[in-house]
Amino acid sequence: MNHNTLELTNQQRQCVKFDPVGDLLIQGIPGSGKSTILLARAQFLKEKSPKDSILVLTYSRVLSNYVRQLSDKLNTTPLDAKTFHQWGQQLLEETDYPHTRLILGDQRKEAIKFAKNIVNKEKNYNASFPNLKKESQRALLDFLSDEIEWIKGHGITSREEYLGIKRAGRGQDVKVTKENRETIYDILEKYNELLINHYKYQGIDGDDLARIIIQKVNKIPDRLRPDHILIDEAQDLHTMQLKAIKSIAKKSLTIAADKGQQIFRRTFTWKSAGITVIGNRSQLLKQTFRSTKQIVRLANDFQSHDKHYIEDKDFTVANEPDVIGKVPELCICNDLQSEQKHILEHVKTIRSSYPEDTIGIIAQSHDSLDKIKEILDAKGIPVYRVKEDKADILSPGVKLITFQSSKGLEFDHVIITDLRKGKLPFSPIPEGEEEESFISRERKKLYVAMTRAKKTLLLVATKKISSFIDDLNPRYYSLKKK
Ligand SMILES: Nc1ncnc2c1ncn2[C@@H]1O[C@H](COP(=O)(O)OP(=O)(O)O)[C@@H](O)[C@H]1O
Ligand SMILES: [Mg+2]
Repeated sequence: MNHNTLELTNQQRQCVKFDPVGDLLIQGIPGSGKSTILLARAQFLKEKSPKDSILVLTYSRVLSNYVRQLSDKLNTTPLDAKTFHQWGQQLLEETDYPHTRLILGDQRKEAIKFAKNIVNKEKNYNASFPNLKKESQRALLDFLSDEIEWIKGHGITSREEYLGIKRAGRGQDVKVTKENRETIYDILEKYNELLINHYKYQGIDGDDLARIIIQKVNKIPDRLRPDHILIDEAQDLHTMQLKAIKSIAKKSLTIAADKGQQIFRRTFTWKSAGITVIGNRSQLLKQTFRSTKQIVRLANDFQSHDKHYIEDKDFTVANEPDVIGKVPELCICNDLQSEQKHILEHVKTIRSSYPEDTIGIIAQSHDSLDKIKEILDAKGIPVYRVKEDKADILSPGVKLITFQSSKGLEFDHVIITDLRKGKLPFSPIPEGEEEESFISRERKKLYVAMTRAKKTLLLVATKKISSFIDDLNPRYYSLKKK
């Protein structure tokens, strides 16, 4: 499909040309043209008011990179696309906030661990959670780190509020007692203190960015406030992040989202994020332009096993497209060696028949992708690791990417691996996670990966195979055994 001649549907066009004042929420299944609409809307806004500033925000670096690349290809004016964190940090640098270094990832965990140890010592108890199955340090830290992200993401800023909140996004079977919550909050307070005062950290937790932006909104110079902000894959953001973006956008906010692809733990409603989307300010797109009927059938059927999501009021079933293609293939391999061999053969076949096509190989871990890269490299097949800001995503060739980062992208041919027991769904289930919602998010990862495919889809499962394979309807795939 040549993008430049792409004929938008009436509903898509309506979204593009919607009133450039206020909020617009565009929800739609994978491939329904959400990103396409955002780019066209950016172009429309620019043409309508050439002086207006426009910014696209996403949650992941890969996606903002992809949006920039697409825009370079399609739009006449280049488009600014950033992640929420990149953007937020730059805003704060312009205010009088003392430290603007972002504390993320391992450093953040280290500071939380430090805080936990101090609290333990001061209170003379061992911060433990009796109902967590494994009392390993790591599991406890992951749990604390996740809980702190959740607390901050929801804008909870007092102990009373946290103690009083009914269900902190956790399942019923994980009983975080009042006493546990007191401990968690002690650790959170100590952690916040370290962020401000300790020479090693002195920075801001990535999860505090949103709250600080909202607080400092009056200090943010006008020139840094875009007239129009467009968000892609907004379901990945936290409530507070959406609120922060909303507080900065001067004229309009356009939000593209699909809760069916919500692979992070988020529990917001649009309303709670301060976004007003009543009447025609909320659009739902149910037609996909990306994948073939055969791919959509398999993906839809797989999604229908997600009890957790199909009860959500935002649940939408994709219409089956008219475009017909090959039936997806499931290959069950005895061992990793035959899996690698099959992937290699498959890549070779596609490359010889369709040298201009893109091939996306999607896996759960970077380790798996590194292995595949080695094998393809050895055969002289050029491959690109798609990570953060790097990699040309649109050009023909083989791209290696994780399930998480594949969101928002598309490839002519998709090969999915790591469909093994323990890898996807990941097990053991992380501490403090409720099984149903965790499995639901793991399932969405596979759904996201499957729906990246435009023309063909190959799923490779090596013994012991993932339990998700049982949820693929044999009527919708052809089986191979290697
Ligand atoms: N009206 C349309 N006609 C033909 N192709 C379309 C149309 N809208 C979108 N597409 C194509 O469908 C694919 C998916 O669009 P995209 O915007 O990435 O969907 P989403 O962001 O909703 O997943 C892209 O290749 C895009 O060019
Ligand atoms: Mg998209």
